[in-house]
Formats: sequence, structure tokens, C-alpha cells
Amino acid sequence: KTSILYFEKDPSKCENKKNSIKFYKNGLLIIEETKIFASGDYEELISLYNIDKKDISLEYEDNLIMPGFIDTHLHYAQTEMIGSFGEQLLPWLEKYTFPTEMKYKDPIYAKEMANFFIKELFKNGTTTAAVFTTVHKESTNAIFEVANKYKMRLIAGKVMMDRNAPKELLDDAKSSYEDSLELIEKWHEKDRLLYAITPRFAPTSTKEQLELARKLKEKYPTTYIQTHLSENLNEIQWVKSLFSNAKSYLDVYDSFGLVTNRAIFGHAIYLEEQEYKTLHEKGASVSLCPTSNLFLGSGLFKIKKLKDENCEVKIGFGSDVGAGTTLNMIKTLNEAYKIVSLEQNSAQNREALSAFEGFYQITLGASISLDLEDKIGKLASNYEADFVVIDFKADEIQNLRMQKIEEQNKDDLAELEEKLFALMIMGDDRNIKATFVNGKKVY
Ligand code: GUN
Ligand code: FE
Repeated sequence: KTSILYFEKDPSKCENKKNSIKFYKNGLLIIEETKIFASGDYEELISLYNIDKKDISLEYEDNLIMPGFIDTHLHYAQTEMIGSFGEQLLPWLEKYTFPTEMKYKDPIYAKEMANFFIKELFKNGTTTAAVFTTVHKESTNAIFEVANKYKMRLIAGKVMMDRNAPKELLDDAKSSYEDSLELIEKWHEKDRLLYAITPRFAPTSTKEQLELARKLKEKYPTTYIQTHLSENLNEIQWVKSLFSNAKSYLDVYDSFGLVTNRAIFGHAIYLEEQEYKTLHEKGASVSLCPTSNLFLGSGLFKIKKLKDENCEVKIGFGSDVGAGTTLNMIKTLNEAYKIVSLEQNSAQNREALSAFEGFYQITLGASISLDLEDKIGKLASNYEADFVVIDFKADEIQNLRMQKIEEQNKDDLAELEEKLFALMIMGDDRNIKATFVNGKKVY
């Protein structure tokens, strides 16, 4: 028996969770080339399509198939510097990040690291990511070339950065426009690839550069914008001093037309009321990065506030490697759970992060936040065939815990929820048994 699970809606928004979930305890997934043909109950599909059981090519006994995980914010050039000691955001950038990113001017090095990075994503069950490269065209070409080898759905973009960093890492407004334009022409909407216009964050772009980012977005309306927002208190102060006319941090981006329904803002920890409103009204999305926020001591995000009924902001989760400490989205959910638990102290936030909500957010929730909900994030027919096979019992302790849950003989969904939660707290890459991208096994 192989189980199949995907979400139709946000379980935290449904009175009856069952209405948000598709779960087949004994399931079957039928792939036609690169798309999902059907998913459902094993016996039903066998008889409906007259399938000979001998023709079923892969069996994952006792495992769970889910949509591939989606990481909505990370930096591929920082994979090699995870766990760099002792600093908060701004000195961490100066001391560790900028020197590392300088190496990615070399296209051979960048390609080697891009290959490593994409393989690690697959090993961790991540099939789509929104990736910052570096200021270099070379590193951006490298990641797109590797992703396209697998026909992966990847969003990436060259960092635009024309001030407040070492001069080896700076572009200028004009060259950042021209390089980005060339990369968009080359990669955006080529097969499954998508381009994100990527000003690093407000402090490292001049007004001229942000103005040209707006021009790019106007010229190519289906591209994304990705950047950082309100991650760290010193950073926020710095933004206020650099852009003294702006009403808020987000207003810097908004005043250049960069807050749109295809904009992804990393972090968003310390938002003011008006910033929530603007994100909501513009349909922009936020990527929450728990392992990074804890590692850099940045602060605790407010997921329940972002999901407020009257002013909901679309969210996904990001590993934010290399400030984040893992590429693994299960471990990312584990830390998210703890942040939500700490935040429960405040009066409005009484609810913990459930397993269904967590796994929803790294599949369908993320695809909605990326405006890709008609393509990825579900295992329904015609969706792109990106999925993971999960083994709940990767070691002795997990095995023991799962057995104890099974012994309770709860109903199927209650048992699933309990097992998924234990997975969310104890799981890692060992629980990823296989990963499929575009209908093919890549791990
Ligand atoms: N803000 C600007 N650049 C970065 C970065 O590389 N990582 C993180 N976490 N925050 C940033
Ligand atoms: Fe980041």
C-alpha cells in the first residue's frame, strides 16, 4: 500500500479539515509523460482505467506520496557557508556572505556548485525553489542551465546591488538593468524556468537601480520580484535612514512599483499595520524563514497575523540558506512550529502550527504564494508531475513512534495527522525516499 496526500485548501481556514485534504490510504498515482494523469484510490483507478496490476511500474510499500516541496526563498551561493559563527544579519553579510559570493564570478565554480545545490534540493524533496544567485551573470546562467537539465520549475534571478557592499560585488544601475534584461530574454518562461528581478534589499540599491527594476517589471510583467523585507532591527533602522521619505520599509519597494502579485518578500518579521495592508491589497507574498531567523537571532515572525482573515497575506516558507541552517523543508517546519509556539504567548495567537497547515504551506500554500497554483502543489490531473515519496520510519526512534501511533487505531485522517506531525518534528532528508521532477525520478 502506498498512500497519497495533497491539499485543496488551507486546512487552517476550514471548519472541517477533511474538506481541505485529498487522502487515499491505498492510493495510486498515474503519470502521463510530464503531467499527472490521475490520482486516487488504488482499486477504483485500477477498475476505472482497466489497468493490469503488472503494469504498475513502481511500488512504494507503506510510504506516502505528496507534492514536491517548495522553498520560496534561498541563496544558492551560500550553501557552502551554512553555520558561519557569531553574527547578526549586517555583520554576517560583511564578514561571511560577501566574500563567499565573490567566488561565483567564475562560471566553472558556479556551475559545479549549482550542480551540487540542485542535487541537494532533490535529496531533500524540494522540487521548486525561488533562488537568489549572486551579482554575476555567470552564476545565474549556471543555476538555470542545471535546473533546465532536469526540466525543473525553478525561479531565480541575478542579484542587483549597486551600493553598500565590497566593490568587487557591485554592479551599477545601468549594467544591472542590461544584465537582467539579457537573462530574462534568455531564461524567463524557457521550458519551466521563471525569472525573478532580484534587488538584494533596499540598503544595497540606489534609487536609480530600483527605478530600473520597475522598468524591467513593466517590460516583462510575468517576471517575479524577490527581495528581503524587515528581517532585523538594525537593518530596518538603516533603511529608514537611507530612505527618509519612505513611510515604511515596504513603502520603499512600493514607491518603485515593486509590490505586485508576483513579488516575494523574504522574512517580513517586523511589519507595521499599513505594511500588512499593502501586502494584502497588492496580492504580494511573504517567505517566512524560521531556521534563518533563529540562527541570526533576527526575531519571531507572526504567521497568524499574516493569515488574519480580514487582511490575509500569501505565505510560503523559505530555507534562506546560508543564513538558514538546512535545505530540508521538514526541518524548516520543525523550527516554524517552535516559533509559532513562542508567539502563542500573545493574546490573539492561541493556535499552534498543525502538521496539515505546515505541509500545506510547503506545497499548495507555496504554489499559491508564487502564483503557480494551476501548475504545481497538487497531485490532481494535469498538474506537473513533481512529487516526493516519504518514508515515515527512517530510524529506530521514528519507527517506534510511528508504531505507537498506529497502535492507537484512530481513524485514517487522525492517524495521518499524528504521523505527519511526528515527522514534522523528527524528520529530515532520511525520510525522503524518492523525488520526481517533471515525471522523472531525480533522486
Ligand atoms: N538581507 C540582504 N541580503 C541577505 C542575505 O543574503 N541573507 C539574509 N538572510 N538576509 C539578507
Ligand atoms: Fe535571504
